[in-house]
Amino acid sequence: MLTTIAQVGQHVGQEVRIGCWLYNKRSSGKIQFLQLRDGSGFIQGVVVKAEVAENVWENASQLTQESSLYITGVVRADDRAPSGYELTVTGVEIIQIAQEYPISLKEHGVDFLMDHRHLWLRTPRQRAVMAIRSEVIRAVYEYFHENGFVKVDPPILTPTSAEGTTNLFHTKYFDEDAYLSQSGQLYMEAAAMALGRVYSFGPTFRAEKSKTRRHLIEFWMIEPEMAFVDHEENLRIQEAFVSHVVQSVLKNCQRELKTLERDTTKLQNVTGSFPRITYDDAIKLLQEKGSEIKWGDDFGAPDETLIADHFDKPVFITHYPTEIKAFYMKPHPERPEVVLCADMIAPEGYGEIIGGSQRIDDPELLEKRFAEHELSEEAYRWYLDLRKYGTVPHSGFGLGLERTVAWICGLDHVRETIPFPRMLYRLYP
Ligand code: 4AD
Repeated sequence: MLTTIAQVGQHVGQEVRIGCWLYNKRSSGKIQFLQLRDGSGFIQGVVVKAEVAENVWENASQLTQESSLYITGVVRADDRAPSGYELTVTGVEIIQIAQEYPISLKEHGVDFLMDHRHLWLRTPRQRAVMAIRSEVIRAVYEYFHENGFVKVDPPILTPTSAEGTTNLFHTKYFDEDAYLSQSGQLYMEAAAMALGRVYSFGPTFRAEKSKTRRHLIEFWMIEPEMAFVDHEENLRIQEAFVSHVVQSVLKNCQRELKTLERDTTKLQNVTGSFPRITYDDAIKLLQEKGSEIKWGDDFGAPDETLIADHFDKPVFITHYPTEIKAFYMKPHPERPEVVLCADMIAPEGYGEIIGGSQRIDDPELLEKRFAEHELSEEAYRWYLDLRKYGTVPHSGFGLGLERTVAWICGLDHVRETIPFPRMLYRLYP
């Protein structure tokens, strides 16, 4: 019967058979140590020449890096082994002897690794990142499922923009123009008016000409939208949601976090309520630190890091100037020059992970915004309808999956957080 490396603990003392690849090999002449991986984990197989049939020893000797095989062996618990177990090998069935593998166990440059992303994914570090990404997604679904949200899938092909027109991906839709979705938000607002509390999770496209550690052209966003929820409650939901995700990874991915050598001290703080700072105070803070930033400017990544460094948890920057934010954000009732919005900035320099706001619910103000932002009212007629037929206060937010995974894993670039990153001038593989 076939088993997996992750399950060997259930078979201590028994003989098991595992489909796997050779990751690395050492030999002392009389003993071969096979480092094996099967996707579910890594384990060492020990082949002792004096104890196995001749063809087993020969097959093991032939194995090159990334050769595929079925290994048979007896499971032994071993505290010194990283996985806690070792295999005393009794059989080696070769599936294929791999050709010379381009990724050696030495260091490689990033461009080389990116060109070989399809193979790079096989390394322990990349496996750990993908497993944590998967756990984040599982925890996202769990949080919303347990809190009464309905999953709704907004369209990918859209006739208009949701987040400004500068980074739209254009395509033809028969005779019409269309754009790949920049955000599902506007559709999620319609869904919230039908279903109350909803969320989406899907790919998002932004033709951003920025080559930074935080920008992807195609990324995945989680976008909840909630009827009858105001700015304050929106922030409380974000705190509970992000805490749930981080704590789930800490609980279920200890092995992966260890592989990544992630210091998890600060991640453990991610519970309860998060600190808040207004945009006004954040500007003052930066000015005190010698920055030339002025009221009305947007923050760059270094500004965000300076602000985040003041706190040991994610921090909300609230009430940005109306001028620099999206058309749909609701103005502060006493200070219309700022909006009821917040960005959540991750600690340790990982930057903005969430953008969210309370939405304009007044049809007249929304029409005014269409004019100010030169958006065709005809194209957004359906969106205006949401304010004509039973408008209610409502709020929502968008969490960027890759930036969140980069933060939790402690990676300095988002390119490792997605299986096949689409970045400026990189479409291969
Ligand atoms: O702040 P953004 O642009 O917000 C929206 O799109 C809203 N419509 C969301 C909503 O309220 N429903 O983007 C939200 C998050 C950012 O905080 C960031 O984590 C991520 O999406 N993000 C990116 N991640 C990777 N690469 C990019 N180019 C990203 N742009 C945004």
